[in-house]
Amino acid sequence: MPRFDITVAGELNLDLILYGLPDELPPEREFLVDQMMLTPGGSSAIVAHNLAALGSQVGFIARIGDDQFGQIALDHLATGGVDVSKLRRMTGSTKTGLTVILQRDSWRNMVTYAGATLELNFADLDLDYLASSRHFHLSSFYLQRGLQSHVAKLFRRLKASGLTISLDTNDDPEDRWEGGIREALRYVDVFLPNEREARRIVGADDLEIAVAQLAAIVPVVVVKLGAQGAMAQRGPERFVSPAVGVNVVDAVGAGDSFDAGFLHQYVCGADLSACLASGNLAGALSTTRPGGTEAFRDRDHRERFFREHGIVGSAPSA
Ligand SMILES: Nc1ncnc2c1ncn2[C@@H]1O[C@H](COP(=O)(O)OP(=O)(O)OP(=O)(O)O)[C@@H](O)[C@H]1O
Ligand SMILES: [Mg+2]
Repeated sequence: MPRFDITVAGELNLDLILYGLPDELPPEREFLVDQMMLTPGGSSAIVAHNLAALGSQVGFIARIGDDQFGQIALDHLATGGVDVSKLRRMTGSTKTGLTVILQRDSWRNMVTYAGATLELNFADLDLDYLASSRHFHLSSFYLQRGLQSHVAKLFRRLKASGLTISLDTNDDPEDRWEGGIREALRYVDVFLPNEREARRIVGADDLEIAVAQLAAIVPVVVVKLGAQGAMAQRGPERFVSPAVGVNVVDAVGAGDSFDAGFLHQYVCGADLSACLASGNLAGALSTTRPGGTEAFRDRDHRERFFREHGIVGSAPSA
């Protein structure tokens, strides 16, 4: 039996979320906010943390700086049950990444110092560790600048070891959608973009055209549709699943939480409808507390939510 259900390589940073700012911020003025939250961020870290909260055995590799932000993020993941033994703490001038999120009622500004995220490279990856798993997940393809040109090779090796592979590119800050993504997609079993990402990657305005093109390359294409829920395409088969109705605090990490909910079921061989429903439940749960992991971290809150809306938190190997 492999040691892990899912291994993840990617980024671990902090999100500083500020609530209650006006839409316009004139220069040279000071603004007071109502609330703030400093919480672990990074798509990969949120996926890893929330998978562990759902009961998956998770191994995680990332780079952090030798600083207090890195320590806070690391402690949070370790407390959440993620194996962080292969995390690399880098001395030198590069710090742990930080994203400042200015959350307004229905939109947000995000400003990121990517720091150590950009420097994770192929040599940092213990391939035996990553391969001691049933499944491997990669997030934030366009932030992994040190790893990007090696992603196809990494996927190929892990697939040769018998793992299935999932990828969530997240946004490309340069909006170019290159960097070898087509080559990498050839090894992916489950691709998890949102609607815009799906369209931008193939350069299509129409989502249906984008999904058809992606489904010709990837066995399962899952498109996250925000408050509309999600859909999946497997060859000619289409699956749709509505969002779960919730009072939203913020949608930070909702897409990553969806990935965790979906993959938690996928690795146990659940059917696609169940995977989608689980993704939507996890995405919705994430929006009920600030940031991407707070709703999962609070066990009582998490279990109450699943009792009210459905259960996704069983151990996949049970
Ligand atoms: N307002 C909402 N109500 C209920 N569920 C939501 C809401 N917003 C998001 N979700 C859930 O979270 C999932 C992911 O959201 P979204 O489509 O925003 O992903 P994303 O754009 O990849 O997000 P991220 O910014 O985290 O990368 C949705 O598919 C849905 O299940
Ligand atoms: Mg996303």
